[in-house]
Amino acid sequence: MIKNICCIGAGYVGGPTMAIIAQKCPHIKVTVVDLNEKRIADWNDPNVDNIPIYEPGLSAIVAESRGRNLFFSTDVDSAIDEADMIFISVNTPTKTYGVGKGMAADLKYIELCARQIAKIAKSDKIVVEKSTLPVRTASAIKNILEHTGNGVKFQILSNPEFLAEGTAVADLLNPDRVLIGGDTDAEGQKAVQKLVDIYSNWVPKNQILTTNIWSSELSKLTANAFLAQRVSSINSMSELCEKTGAEISEIAKAIGMDNRIGSEFLKSSVGFGGSCFKKDILNLVYIAKSYGLNEVADYWEQVIIMNDHQTARFAKNIVKKLYNTVSGKKIAILGWAFKKDTNDTRESAAIYVADNLLAEQANLVVFDPKVKEHQIYTDLNHLATRPHGENIEGVTVVDNPYEACNETHAIAILTEWEEFKTYDWEKIYNHMQKPAFIFDGRNLLDKNELERIGFVYQAVGS
Ligand code: NAD
Ligand code: UDX
Repeated sequence: MIKNICCIGAGYVGGPTMAIIAQKCPHIKVTVVDLNEKRIADWNDPNVDNIPIYEPGLSAIVAESRGRNLFFSTDVDSAIDEADMIFISVNTPTKTYGVGKGMAADLKYIELCARQIAKIAKSDKIVVEKSTLPVRTASAIKNILEHTGNGVKFQILSNPEFLAEGTAVADLLNPDRVLIGGDTDAEGQKAVQKLVDIYSNWVPKNQILTTNIWSSELSKLTANAFLAQRVSSINSMSELCEKTGAEISEIAKAIGMDNRIGSEFLKSSVGFGGSCFKKDILNLVYIAKSYGLNEVADYWEQVIIMNDHQTARFAKNIVKKLYNTVSGKKIAILGWAFKKDTNDTRESAAIYVADNLLAEQANLVVFDPKVKEHQIYTDLNHLATRPHGENIEGVTVVDNPYEACNETHAIAILTEWEEFKTYDWEKIYNHMQKPAFIFDGRNLLDKNELERIGFVYQAVGS
């Protein structure tokens, strides 16, 4: 039985996933390690509300187990040494250099973990791929681990994570399924069973699916590609709606009631963001191309092309509606996170909309309930479209939504935060330039009510 788990990577996946394992398996010691000292210090902050990741319900769960059987540490070597099972939950971003630049997953952090495990391990270990990886990565990890010459036996499992940010705790407590892939021989199956036993502490057995390791690895990329494809499909229709008088929300409802289609993931928006969809589809496209499957690659690439188009046309439309110029005009951006209930901004549509508007010389005022000022400047600087000084000049970040909207020509809603619905829109209207425009990139607000107040209200797909 597994008594000691180490998880390498204390990020959006490693932190919440291990917090739930620790909560549900008080008999297992769980140590989450990371090279990032600040991140570990934040996870250990005596005030549990300061943990580095905002997820509804997470801080209470961390408070329950931290110091009992859940530990956060920068001592990677000791945690590896003690563990029977090691989860690798490090980032696998898109490569920014060399072969596969801009498409392939950068596996350098994965390889570093494998080499570290190989160097430190003195007893047999089960190594679990928790990160999202290209199909057949397990064979590379195995190869590194098997050539250390210290006689330690390793089993590699694939256990991709399907949690979505903003609902991570609920998703982890009640997953649609847990997927575990392993070698099909007896030793491999023994290792699979050990991981099944851990999840069985709270997940019904019939929802724990075991497969061969390649199916498990590829299922993760496939799931994200299918989910993103639904968003791009509905967004493609939103543009047609805007030309024809059809309403995208009515269409989504009408098609979603067909059981074969289903109603989830049909919400038209300014475009999907997040750290996963774009990266994983680019990776899928790269893998397909590397096997010479050009039609497969082109098919999935279109999902990203459509998404980029949706975000770009949202920004263009603002300029067009504001009489073809936003130069010197003040525009409020409400919401910077890539979706509600998270402080994560990776690949958020807001970054690209803001960048487009800054290129048109707009003055932006940004408010997000959970994203900090420095993150907003970091995101814009990362695009390297203009010098940092110009981003500072063009963007003001405030911590009050009413201040954000004061004296603006237009408001762009870019994250679907629930609190936006509760604002006093009459008061906001009274303090804006007229005509007062709202561009609702999430179809969040009540069109009739806003039009009654006097706003020019424009949603996506209507
Ligand atoms: P993240 O960037 O939030 O966290 C990764 C952490 O790993 C970082 O804190 C980094 O410092 C640490 N790290 C990197 N190399 C290390 C090393 N050699 N030793 C110790 N620590 C190291 O990333 P994330 O969002 O948690 O994603 C992790 C993986 O999970 C990715 O492969 C991602 O695709 C996948 N995933 C993410 C989500 C999500 O919603 N974010 C969901 C499912 C799967
Ligand atoms: C996604 C997958 O859902 C999850 O299973 C995987 O583990 C990680 O990647 P995440 O990126 O955290 O999760 O959030 P998700 O809810 O999938 O939303 C992704 C983006 O799509 C967000 O920007 C969201 O606003 C957008 N979206 C989602 C839409 O625009 N419309 C929808 O109908 C659904």
